[in-house]
Formats: sequence, structure tokens, C-alpha cells
Amino acid sequence: MLIVDGKTYELPIIIGTEGERAIDISRLLKDTGLITMDPGFVNTGSCRSAITFMDGDKGILRHRGIPIEQLAEHSSFVETAYLLINGELPTPEELSKFSAMLNEHSLVHEDMRAFFEHYPSRAHPMGILSSMVTAMRAFYPTLKDRSQEENITITFARLISKLRTLAAMSYNISRGHKVTYPSHQLSYCANFLKMMFDSPVRPYVIDEDIVRALNVFWILHADHEQNCSTSAVRLVGSARVNLYAAISAGISALWGPLHGGANQAVIEMLQEIYNSGGDVAPFIARAKDKNDEFRLMGFGHRVYKSYDPRAKIMEEIVHRLLSKLQLNDPLLDIAKRLEEIALKDSYFVDHKLYPNVDFYSGIVLRAMGIPINMFTVMFAIGRLPGWISQWKESLDDPDWKLHRPRQIYIGLNERDYVPIEKRGK
Ligand code: SDX
Repeated sequence: MLIVDGKTYELPIIIGTEGERAIDISRLLKDTGLITMDPGFVNTGSCRSAITFMDGDKGILRHRGIPIEQLAEHSSFVETAYLLINGELPTPEELSKFSAMLNEHSLVHEDMRAFFEHYPSRAHPMGILSSMVTAMRAFYPTLKDRSQEENITITFARLISKLRTLAAMSYNISRGHKVTYPSHQLSYCANFLKMMFDSPVRPYVIDEDIVRALNVFWILHADHEQNCSTSAVRLVGSARVNLYAAISAGISALWGPLHGGANQAVIEMLQEIYNSGGDVAPFIARAKDKNDEFRLMGFGHRVYKSYDPRAKIMEEIVHRLLSKLQLNDPLLDIAKRLEEIALKDSYFVDHKLYPNVDFYSGIVLRAMGIPINMFTVMFAIGRLPGWISQWKESLDDPDWKLHRPRQIYIGLNERDYVPIEKRGK
């Protein structure tokens, strides 16, 4: 019930399958002439979705109803990608057909290599990736003799498979190394590792534990309802532009240090603590200081007001990987100390700030040998099936509209144009 200027308006309540409730204001402007104001959309839902469910208070994350803990334990990244996009876990036949399609589309047009060769060597891989994905539209246009569904399915496979190949290519070209082509004999994750690290003088030996860790790493990043980059994909996609352009917008949004770029920022922060002698107290104090814009990277979340379930699983991968590789990462000790102190500090407790997915993910990537400037690229490869599934869902959404928020104007009232000779007098 809303009362405006003495008039009462009924506002329907939308209830989701997990009991979430929303006030439906889709007729508010038409009926009352009012809009709502909600910076950062903290209180605003943008869509109904059946893909991912999160409960921020209970630390629950499910994809198509399946808890992230079970997917991390039993699934593969390719299978989880299929689940997100198609809504069900694939049968053995469906999975082998999907895998064959990813293999079929794993090569990158040879002319795309020229792009890499003319980028400044210090260019950030996220900037390269975003522009390469937009360029894919020119190399892989939809074909008129295919149905829309066929074109969309092939575009999904091209993106999922080629993004991974492009990432490995950019890494090797930036170092002046030979590019390794994907192999039809390797799984999606094993292929990536081989393309990244294989060398004519030091062949990369596939380690199944690292392959498993990479599968889980990408499963943990696969989707996360209406986060910043997914909202960017949906917003750009709402203009009915091609999927490559919408995904490129998602990559750009993910690049930000408050979002996917946090995994790189966490390691840079831990390294800074390590270089300054390892004392975390000054950094905790800075994070609490209102006058200091420093934030504890990898901590806090818009939705999770409890431990991010992905961070728990990521920490388990860290321990498994480091003991398997007999590595001892001093940054892990610092991360553990930081977490221990922060979780006892009233500022973090009162603000409900816990480690998020990015807090330990950088340590996993370091153990795999991934360079720090590629950490967010790794996040993007993982999030791609989520972006694709959300974009696809928006196509079929009966409530779909072009995204065009309103505003409240706070500028000058009407005034006349002043000829240049009369200005400044
Ligand atoms: C991801 O949305 C998703 O689902 C994202 C993601 C995904 O999978 O797509 O989960 C991936 O982006 C994880 C988040 C990675 N970012 C970081 O780790 C950067 C550090 N964290 C933050 O900057 C922050 O916590 C955000 C951006 C993640 C969320 O912030 P909100 O919800 O916009 O909240 P806010 O910035 O308004 O902060 C609320 C209060 C403020 O204090 P007050 O002014 O109210 O006193 O909490 C404080 C903030 O100062 N705060 C922090 C803090 N995060 C919030 N203080 C210190 N350190 C932090 N990390």
C-alpha cells in the first residue's frame, strides 16, 4: 500500500521460490508520476531469474538448485557451464556433444594474432580480452543459413572455448613465446594449462590435481546472480546488440578492483604487507579509518553478510594444492593472520565483512603459476558461462525491456544562452 498526496496505491508483492519478496513498482511512474531512487541498486531487483540463488545471511549459493559445495566436489567446469546455460545437468551424450563442440571451436582465427602483436607489451590482459571479444563478432558473424538457435549455440561454444585460447595466446605472445595450439586429446582445463605453460624445451606435464583445482576454481566463479558484470551484460544485451559486445562489456566491468579485479588487488595488498615486514595491524587500522580510502581487498560483499561459501572451498583448494606441490606461500600466512584478526575485530563484525571469493583465489592462481596480471582474466573465463546463461534468460524474459533507468535532476533551472562576447562580464 502506498499513499501519495492522499491517494492510496496497491503495490503487488512478488514472491520467489525461496521466499524472497519484492514490491512490484513496474506501474509506479504511470500511476503516481513518481520514480524510486536507489544508488547502486542496493535495494532493487532487476529481473526474475531461475539460474542462481544466493542467501547472503546463510552463505548459500546454488546453481539451478544445486549447492555450490556439491558442484565443486562432483562436477567439472564444462558440466557446470552446461547446467547454467541449459538448466539441467547433461546426460553422457549431451556432455560429450557439448565437449566436442567446444573442441571444434577452440582455435582462434589466425588473423586475430595480429591484434596481440600490436598491443603495447604492458597492456593489461583484461583490456586486450575485452577488445578481442568485440573483434570476434567481425571474425565470426552469424550465418543466414543457420537457425537463430543454431547461431546462438555455436556462439556460446565459440566464446567459452576461444576465450580460454585467447587468454593463453595473449600470455605467450606478451612474453615472445611460441603459441601452443589446443589439443583435441585434452579436457578443457588441461588444454588451458598446456596452452599456457608448454614449451618446446620444457614440455608441460599435465598434473591431474592441478587440472582438478582449475575445474573447481572456475566452477566457483561460474555465476553469481545479478553482480556488477552480469548486470552490465544484461544492460548492454537489452539493446539487442550481439552477444560478443555484451560479453565485452561484462569483461570491462569485471576488471574493476571492487569487483573481479579484487583477486589481483588482494595479492598486491598481501605482497605490500609482506614487503613492509608482515605486520597486518597497520592495514587493519587503515581499513577501519573513515578518512583513508584503503579497503581490505577480498573482504566484504554486497550480498554475503556471512562467510562467502566460495571462499571456504577456495581455501581448501589452497591447502590441497600447496601440499601437493610442496609449496609454502608466505602470502598465505599473511592472509590467514589478516582473516583471523579481522574476524575478531568489532569493525568487521559490525559491518559483517567476511572474506569473499577473491580473498584466497589469488593464492591458488600463484600456486598454478598464473601471472598476477592474468588473475582477473581467469575470473572472466570462469564467469563466462554465467554471463551467457543470464543473457540467454533475458532473451526469453516476457518482462524484458530495454534497460533505461530514470534520474532526479538537480541542475540549474531554465536560463538563456549567453553570446560569447558577453560571458565572464
Ligand atoms: C566480487 O556482487 C557479486 O556477487 C560480486 C562477486 C561475484 O562473484 O560476481 O562476488 C565478486 O566482486 C567480490 C567482491 C570483491 N571486491 C573486494 O573484495 C573489494 C573490497 N570490498 C569492498 O569494496 C566492498 O565490500 C564491496 C564493494 C565488495 C561491497 O561493498 P558495498 O556493498 O557497496 O558496501 P559499501 O561499500 O557501502 O560498504 C558498507 C560499509 C562501509 O562502511 P560505512 O561507511 O557504512 O561505515 O562497509 C565498509 C564501508 O567502508 N566496507 C569496508 C570494506 N567493504 C565494505 N571497509 C573496509 N574494508 C572493506 N573491504
